[in-house]
Amino acid sequence: MIRLTIPSIEEDDLNAARDVLESGFLVQGTRVAEFENSIASYVGVKHVIAVSNCTAALHLALLALDVRPGDLVLVTTYSWVATANVIELCGAQPVFVDIQPDTFNMDPERLVATLSRLMATTETARRVKAILPVHTFGQMADMTAITRIAEQYNIPVIEDAACALGSKWEERQAGSWGVMGCFSFHPRKAITTGEGGAITTNDYQLARKLRALRNHGLDPEAPAPEFIMPGFNYRMTEFQAAFGTSQMQKLDRIITARRRLAHQYDILLEDDPVLVPAVPSQSFHVYQSYVTLLPREAASRRAEIIRQLKEQGIETNIGTWHMPLTTYFRSRYGCRAGDFPVSEDIFLRALTLPLYESLTTENQHTVIEHVQKVWS
Ligand SMILES: Cc1ncc(COP(=O)(O)O)c(C=O)c1O
Repeated sequence: MIRLTIPSIEEDDLNAARDVLESGFLVQGTRVAEFENSIASYVGVKHVIAVSNCTAALHLALLALDVRPGDLVLVTTYSWVATANVIELCGAQPVFVDIQPDTFNMDPERLVATLSRLMATTETARRVKAILPVHTFGQMADMTAITRIAEQYNIPVIEDAACALGSKWEERQAGSWGVMGCFSFHPRKAITTGEGGAITTNDYQLARKLRALRNHGLDPEAPAPEFIMPGFNYRMTEFQAAFGTSQMQKLDRIITARRRLAHQYDILLEDDPVLVPAVPSQSFHVYQSYVTLLPREAASRRAEIIRQLKEQGIETNIGTWHMPLTTYFRSRYGCRAGDFPVSEDIFLRALTLPLYESLTTENQHTVIEHVQKVWS
C-alpha cells in the first residue's frame, strides 16, 4: 500500500522520548521549555506555549483575546472542523468567509466585503473580536492583504497554522504575522509529537495568560502556587516535547523533500486535466498535503475514485471540509448550498495524493498512472 502519509520517525527521536520516560519526569519541565525555545527561534517569535494539540491552541488563543458568548469571529469556510468548532466552544459565532479557488485560502476581497458589512452597524461592529485565516495544506494565506485589512479595523488576527510550520509568505514565517499563531504536531504534519500543538506570540501579556490557561489557571510566574483564573489541563508531556525537539532538527530536511516531491508531481501532471496546487510568487509552500483538483465532471465520482485507488494499493483522501455545510453549522445557522460557492466546489473536487519524505519516484509514477486511469 502506498500510504497517504508516513511520519519521518527515526532512532534518535525514539531515544529522546525513551530517555525522558526512563527519567520519570513526565510533565511540564525542562523538555517542554526546550521544545518551545526551538520553535520560537525557528519561527522568529518571542514566546511559544506548547499544548496538547492545535485544537487546544486555537481554543486558548480565542480565550486569551476574551472571545465570549455573542462575539463574532471571521473564519475561512474550508478547513478541518476544529477551526470553527473552537469559536463555538467559546460561545461565539463564526462568520464564514469564502476562499480563493486556486490557493484554497481565505479570499481577502471577500474578507473586506464581510468585515465592512459587519463594521457598518454598531451592534455587529462591537461583537467582531478576531479574524482566523487558515494556512491551508501548508500554504500561507495572503497575510499582506489580511493583516492590512485587520489593521484598518483594528481587529486581531490569529493564524491557524496547524499545517504550516516552516511555511512563509514574503519570506516571513507562518506564526509570526498574527497576534498569535497555532500549530499542530499531529502525525499528518511535517513533524509530529503524536498529538501536540503550540501557540506563538510576541505579546508577553498574552503569553502569560496562555501559560496560565493551559495549566489550571496557575500563575506561571508566582513564586508559590497562585491560581489566577479558571484554566484547563492542555499541557504537553515531557516525552512528547523531547521527541518534538528531536523532530525539529529534521524539519528543514523534511520540508525540502516534500517540496521536491510536490514539484515532481507537478511535472507528472503537467498536461493533465487534474489541476496541481497553485503557488503565488510570495509563497513558500511546505505541502503538508499535496491536493489536486479533479475536473468538475469527475467530482461526483470522487468517493468511487478514492475507493478504486485504495483497491489498487494507493491511499488518497478528500482535501478538507466545507465547514458551513457540515451538519452542525448547517442546522445551527441555516447555511445552505450556494452560500459559499468557491469552497463548495473545491470541497467536492479536491483529491489528496500520497506525500511523505520516503516516497520514491517510482511510487509517484505508480500513483499518477493509477489516478489518470481511474478518474478518466
Ligand atoms: C487547519 C487545521 N486546524 C486545526 C487542526 C486541529 O489540529 P489538532 O489535530 O492538532 O488538534 C487541524 C488538524 O489537522 C487542521 O488541519
